[in-house]
Amino acid sequence: MRPKVFVSRMIPQSGLKRLQERCEVEVWPDRMPPAPEVLRAKIADCDGIVSLLTDRIDAPLMDAAPRLKVVSNFAVGVNNIDLAAATERGIAIGNTPGVLTDATADIAVTLLLAAARRLGESMIDAREGRWLTWEPTGWLGQDIGGRTLGIVGMGRIGLAMARRMHYGWGMPIVYTSRTPKPEIDAELKARRVELPELLAMSDYVSVHADLNPSTKGLFGADQFRQMKPTAVFINTSRGPLVDQDALVMALREGLIFSAGLDVTDPEPLPPTHPLYAQPNCVIAPHIASATVQTRDEMARICAENLLAGVLGQPLTACANPAVEPKRRR
Ligand code: GLV
Ligand code: GLV
Repeated sequence: MRPKVFVSRMIPQSGLKRLQERCEVEVWPDRMPPAPEVLRAKIADCDGIVSLLTDRIDAPLMDAAPRLKVVSNFAVGVNNIDLAAATERGIAIGNTPGVLTDATADIAVTLLLAAARRLGESMIDAREGRWLTWEPTGWLGQDIGGRTLGIVGMGRIGLAMARRMHYGWGMPIVYTSRTPKPEIDAELKARRVELPELLAMSDYVSVHADLNPSTKGLFGADQFRQMKPTAVFINTSRGPLVDQDALVMALREGLIFSAGLDVTDPEPLPPTHPLYAQPNCVIAPHIASATVQTRDEMARICAENLLAGVLGQPLTACANPAVEPKRRR
C-alpha cells in the first residue's frame, strides 16, 4: 500500500511531484491554513504530514494520527512543533536547514539597509506628495560602513549575515552564542560577548536566534534601553523573541533609531497595529526564504525528509535526532 500523506498547503512542484510518485497525496487547496480540527481529521490515517510554520503540531494532534511516522516541516524553524512530544511518540520531525541561509541573510541585509536609510518612509513620502525638493537635512539616516554589527545567535544564518556585512561593508562583528566559535573569531575577527555588552556597543543588532523558551521575549524595554539611540534593530528570526509593545515604545521615544522586521507576533500583523504607524519601522511579511530557487530547494528537502520518514530511513535533516532508536515503522 502506498503511504498516505497530507500536505497542508500547495508547495512547489519540485517537491510535490516526488511525493506523488511514491505516495497517496492530499494537498490542502486553500490559501489559508486548515483549521486545527480540519487538520486533525485530515491526518487521522496518514503516515506523513508536510506542515508549515502556521500549523500547530502538538501532542493532541499527534495522538489523532496513530500511524504518523514523520512530520516534514516546510521551514528551518520548528517552533510550531512540540519536538519532545514527537520524540516520545517515535515521530521523526524534518526541517529544511541550509537551503534558505543565503536568502534569509539577504533579507536581513535588505532590512538593515532600508531601516538605516529610511527607505520605507521616504518611499511613502515620495509617492504621497511629500517630496517637495532636495533637502539638505531631509530623510537623514545612519552610515553603515565600519559601524559595529551585533549578531544575536551565531548559527548558519547569523554567520551568513556577518560575512555579508563584514566583507561588504567592513563592519566589525560581535555576537552572542551558546558556544565559542573560534573559527568565526579567526575568520571575521569577531568577538563573542554577552548580550548586554553587545547591545551597548552595536550600531546594528541583527537577531538570528531560534525561538525556544529561553529566547522568548529576549528583547524587552530593558534591552532597547541598553542600545544606542542611533542603533538599528533587525529581526529575521521569529516575532516572539521581541516584546513588541516595548519595541513600539523604543521606536516612538527614540531609544533606538529604527527597526527592520521580517517576522512579527502575531503573523500576520493586523494592519491596525501601532508598529505600522511608526515611520522608522520597516515591516516585511515573513518573506526571507521567498525566492523561486530557495522555495524549490525547500520543497525538495521537505519531500526527501517525508519519503525517508515513511520508509523508515534516516532523514536528510532531522530536528529531533533523539527519536532515531524509537521511530515508528
Ligand atoms: C521560515 O521562517 C523558516 O523557518 O523556514
Ligand atoms: C546628490 O544627489 C548630490 O549630487 O550630491
